[in-house]
Amino acid sequence: MPVILITGASSGIGAALARHYAAPGTTLVLHGRDAGRLEAVAEACRTKGARVETARLDVRDRAAVAAWLRAANAAHPLDLVIVNAAINGGDPGGDVETEATAFETLDVNVNGAFNVALPCVTLMRARGAGQIALVSSLAAFAPLPDAPAYSGAKAALLAHGLALREKLKPHGVRINVVTPGYVKTAMGSEYQGWRPMEISADEAAIRIARGLARNQDIVAFPWIIAALARGSALLPESLRRLGMSGFKFKIRTGR
Ligand SMILES: NC(=O)c1ccc[n+]([C@@H]2O[C@H](COP(=O)([O-])OP(=O)(O)OC[C@H]3O[C@@H](n4cnc5c(N)ncnc54)[C@H](OP(=O)(O)O)[C@@H]3O)[C@@H](O)[C@H]2O)c1
Repeated sequence: MPVILITGASSGIGAALARHYAAPGTTLVLHGRDAGRLEAVAEACRTKGARVETARLDVRDRAAVAAWLRAANAAHPLDLVIVNAAINGGDPGGDVETEATAFETLDVNVNGAFNVALPCVTLMRARGAGQIALVSSLAAFAPLPDAPAYSGAKAALLAHGLALREKLKPHGVRINVVTPGYVKTAMGSEYQGWRPMEISADEAAIRIARGLARNQDIVAFPWIIAALARGSALLPESLRRLGMSGFKFKIRTGR
């Protein structure tokens, strides 16, 4: 009877993961902010036989998020938590992102992610079981010049997640870092630039679930872009930057 909690399940990859895991005998704890979209995903999952609870919270609200996680875990111990909610950074004009954008991106994508992950570490460690997936990005390996805060936030999740993975292994808690390439979602559609080998959110969910079932340390896809992104870290910085020149983008606002 697995219990799976997914943040950012009202849209994109989180919604696709919820639908993917929805099955009789599974309890889904789905999180988002938009009531209509979250309820539509919950209803689709119930139709597939899952038991579904929803919660609407801003992941930046550390106290509220911690209280929600403790209550959810007390009701039914969490087996898998997918820390997925995030926003794009960047600038509509392709300029340097503003301080406000950068801080908002860091608040949601770093602090917001750890507001979810760290209480779950405590709860799962006490129980001696559980799995936490941190949804990062290939931008963690190959920082995007047009999204410095986003890239830095995703690199923080990668480094923190891999470090925690080692520490938590003896305590029965598995940590995985998910680094997708381009995925067709609302966030993806805000991105005005080249998006090679873009895949659907449903396809991304299949790859993420497969990687998590195998307890892969890093779940990276599609493999060609992932290999290039990870390999680029070995290049001299001037060459790496040249390679990144095709990945310029602007952010489209007004979602
Ligand atoms: N799409 C891509 O190409 C791509 C590539 C690499 C990595 N990723 C990563 O994959 C994950 C999912 O992205 P996506 O493309 O599926 O994005 P999306 O469709 O824009 O969905 C983002 C989700 O995060 C939630 N969210 C955003 N800010 C929040 C906040 N402050 N508090 C609570 N919830 C918040 C949204 O909730 P509401 O809509 O209800 O507000 C929504 O459910 C993210 O971590 C992203 O960085 C995406």
